[in-house]
Amino acid sequence: MKKILGLTASPRKLGNCEIMIKEISRQIPEPHELQLIRLPELDIQPCKGCYRCLFKEEECVLNDDFDMVLKSMIEADALILSVPAYFLGANASLKRFLDRGLSFYAHIDKLWGKPAVAAGIAGIKGKEGYTLLCIDSFLKLVLADNKYSRIIYGALPGEIFFNDKNKKIASDMAASLFGTRLKKTDPRCPLCGGDTFRFLEGNRVRCMLCSNEGVINIVNKKSVFEIDRGVHELFLTKKDAVEHKKWLQGMKIRFIKEKKRLKEISLPYRKL
Ligand SMILES: Cc1cc2nc3c(=O)[nH]c(=O)nc-3n(C[C@H](O)[C@H](O)[C@H](O)COP(=O)(O)O)c2cc1C
Repeated sequence: MKKILGLTASPRKLGNCEIMIKEISRQIPEPHELQLIRLPELDIQPCKGCYRCLFKEEECVLNDDFDMVLKSMIEADALILSVPAYFLGANASLKRFLDRGLSFYAHIDKLWGKPAVAAGIAGIKGKEGYTLLCIDSFLKLVLADNKYSRIIYGALPGEIFFNDKNKKIASDMAASLFGTRLKKTDPRCPLCGGDTFRFLEGNRVRCMLCSNEGVINIVNKKSVFEIDRGVHELFLTKKDAVEHKKWLQGMKIRFIKEKKRLKEISLPYRKL
């Protein structure tokens, strides 16, 4: 029997996020058990930025619910994520958990490529802001294989299923989780599938998901992005993730080397 982890970032029990996860689970053809974790209910403390989880025991020094969620992620065969839009972005419980993500690098082999689908739920059409970017970034940084993610709309708890199309979306997501990836037809980054860009000089752009740069051109009235791989890749491949871990670990040597110079800069601010 497969294990599926449903992660919701909504504080509302039986709200849209929770019923979306349960509807997707209901429609998954493979036999499975669903574990539901509500992130806002948990004690997830802010990352201290101590980097200790990258060295020696490779465990976080904080004693809270983070390890329980990480263990569930590691043990799951797949993830369903559902996140409400709060003030144009994802509910903060998602970021609070993600900020502890240096701990993921100890488990690259077990986390890499876990199939995942995700729904962002916003109350007002077009007012989701950067919620989908938060979701796609989350799935990228937990090293999952994002099979399909999208925004759906509904404000009142349960309202998403006033619209039958959202049941169909749940069923498509359910089929894609262990099946074929769902195609997205709107313009996106050809390297990572991201759909959010920063506009730079001229027609240059940077993808906000994989951080790579390139150009946008309008061809036959359609936006076409050409994006080049950068030197410091953010996880287009498992090798990139391993390289990034090594790069982060290398920061310790750099820190020791630069410690005196850094102290000279920061010490004069101590008494202020
Ligand atoms: C504090 C707060 C902020 C919200 N901000 C937005 C927003 O910026 N854009 C939007 O479309 N909906 C916003 N909403 C509406 C929720 O995204 C919407 O009600 C969603 O269905 C909640 O999902 P849930 O039922 O799983 O909690 C907000 C709701 C709350 C409570």
